[in-house]
Amino acid sequence: MTLITVDAVSKAFWIPTVRRDTIREHLFGMLQPRRFHRLQALDSVSFEVRDGETLGIMGRNGSGKSTLLKILCGIYPPDRGRVERRAAVTPILDLGVGWNPELDAVDNVFLIGSVMGLSLGEIRRSMDAILGFAELQEFANLKLAHYSSGMSSRLAYAVAFHAVRDVLVLDEIFAVGDAGFRQRCEERYRDLHAQGHTVLLVSHDPRTVTSFCDRALLLDHGRIVMEGPAREIADRYVSTLTKRISD
Ligand SMILES: Nc1ncnc2c1ncn2[C@@H]1O[C@H](COP(=O)(O)OP(=O)(O)O)[C@@H](O)[C@H]1O
Ligand SMILES: [Mg+2]
Repeated sequence: MTLITVDAVSKAFWIPTVRRDTIREHLFGMLQPRRFHRLQALDSVSFEVRDGETLGIMGRNGSGKSTLLKILCGIYPPDRGRVERRAAVTPILDLGVGWNPELDAVDNVFLIGSVMGLSLGEIRRSMDAILGFAELQEFANLKLAHYSSGMSSRLAYAVAFHAVRDVLVLDEIFAVGDAGFRQRCEERYRDLHAQGHTVLLVSHDPRTVTSFCDRALLLDHGRIVMEGPAREIADRYVSTLTKRISD
């Protein structure tokens, strides 16, 4: 069964072109109209996510992976095309998207947990497990504003891992935390997969994609250039990278 259909999705951003390096240039620049150029982050991307699969999304930095995930989760609207979701999609929310830096970890878990569809009772029951998973019990009552970026990422992963209903969406997952945290993520990931959950995983690391995904897509400049078994996609990705270096 198809859980998510992404149909001809395009997204562009407007990027300021005028560089202002000094304060003087900046002040004079304010008198001039600002110039922007259009950056096509995604260009007519189509694919399907099937029930129970682990789908990897690969591509170099800036190829559009995170933008694609945000559109898929409904955080950004696409300019063109559409996304059809037939299941609950749980993203890892970045700091800034929904989190409140003036509240402590416990209150933020209530906030984000309810955004992700958990009831207050469910959140209360999972609180110790979530803080323990993130290794943040000691900092439970510290304002998020005083968290390091590593601490807030661990909290974001811990909430999403506990809140997932059908589809879990992970962006560069094994890039945060120390070895112990990564190990816990890996175990939780394997449990979720074994329970039949669907997982979408963005990574630029070929080993992560081959060991955690069945199938993968390769994005380049906002387009899907290849789709197939994870190993083939990872090999192709590595060969395009080395080709670029030797050019
Ligand atoms: N909110 C935004 N505003 C302007 N440009 C953006 C925004 N988000 C992403 N981009 C640009 O879109 C391109 C794709 O970004 P992204 O999806 O983050 O790539 P990836 O995750 O593959 O590294 C990049 O050039 C990035 O600078
Ligand atoms: Mg990214």
